[in-house]
Amino acid sequence: MKILITGGAGFIGSNLAHKLVHKNYDVRIVDNFHPAYGGNEHNFTGISNKIELIKGDISERSVMQNAVEGVDVIFHIAAQCSHVDSMVDPWLDVQYNCIGTLNLLEAAKDSAKKTGKTPLIIYAGTRAQIGQPLEMPAHEKTYPNPVDVYGVNKLSAELYGAVYARVHAMPFISLRLTNCYGPRHQMKSGKYGILNWFISLALQGKPVKVFGTGEQLRDYLYIDDAMEVFVKCMELGQNLKTKAYPKIQLAGTHVPFAAFNIGSGKGIQFVDAARKIVEKAKSPIEFVPWTNERKSIETGDFVTDTSASTEFLNWKPTTSFDEGLDKTFAYYEKQLSHYL
Ligand SMILES: NC(=O)c1ccc[n+]([C@@H]2O[C@H](COP(=O)([O-])OP(=O)(O)OC[C@H]3O[C@@H](n4cnc5c(N)ncnc54)[C@H](O)[C@@H]3O)[C@@H](O)[C@H]2O)c1
Repeated sequence: MKILITGGAGFIGSNLAHKLVHKNYDVRIVDNFHPAYGGNEHNFTGISNKIELIKGDISERSVMQNAVEGVDVIFHIAAQCSHVDSMVDPWLDVQYNCIGTLNLLEAAKDSAKKTGKTPLIIYAGTRAQIGQPLEMPAHEKTYPNPVDVYGVNKLSAELYGAVYARVHAMPFISLRLTNCYGPRHQMKSGKYGILNWFISLALQGKPVKVFGTGEQLRDYLYIDDAMEVFVKCMELGQNLKTKAYPKIQLAGTHVPFAAFNIGSGKGIQFVDAARKIVEKAKSPIEFVPWTNERKSIETGDFVTDTSASTEFLNWKPTTSFDEGLDKTFAYYEKQLSHYL
């Protein structure tokens, strides 16, 4: 089976590439290595001669037309990932997250017409689509309430997927991830992946800064658990192709589309997570006032309702927060210089 990963050089994409290569799948990656994001050739250590790498931008139609050629499954992971930047440069967010996704869907549709083979698309959605949850824990059918342009555009990309599933029978599964942490994440900016950023600061003996009291609840997911559910979705996706549609239908009973909220289901106060990190590294913690930039796009408490992912994907995370932190520290104690 041939698999395409967009954004495969970054945190989630490269961890997935390792997992798929180890399962002997044929993996192609498209990534633009934009310096602001997590694309990093070091992430391919151990698999670089086993993957096909296309250096290109998903917002260019010709790149996506070439990238989808002959593939059975597409993991769509490339994105503009910063909540803050999406408010400063909303046009770039539209270009990557909306236009990039439309290019992928159109390319997959054209390829299916030519070859008769319709690829399954699995999309890395985000809790930012739900934004400030209108009910807790956040269930799939909770009405979305995004608080930033990133959340709106990531939701739009998911809805484009639902439309192409309905009109062109292209199977599409969205995994709306909560905050993930673990190896192979960039450590150069606090604008993406706050836990990894805190670990980077703590390992360098620099203070970790918590806005306000940090009492808001967060739901953290270790990367290996997230990868497990991505791979499981390939199995569910094969069912979508054979019309055994899942019962979590957000787009009607005959549409090969599904969306799942993916998290640990456990709320941890942000300040407790920060404290665990500084205790491990014996580094300082500081409490600072919220900046307007951050406060205006803060979601408040977020905990995932895991009932649908448990029932329909037969998946539950197995890594405790302490265990995940230990593994993450162990990785960066050796590899930090490659990610700064
Ligand atoms: N990390 C998390 O906690 C988290 C949580 C929820 C959702 N997500 C979603 O997961 C996906 C990946 O996030 P990540 O943490 O791995 O980020 P990352 O920055 O590590 O990876 C993103 C990758 O996409 C590439 N990319 C970005 N724009 C591109 C473009 N226009 N063309 C080609 N490649 C492009 C980057 O170079 C990078 O390698 C995103 O879609 C994000 O919305 C991540």
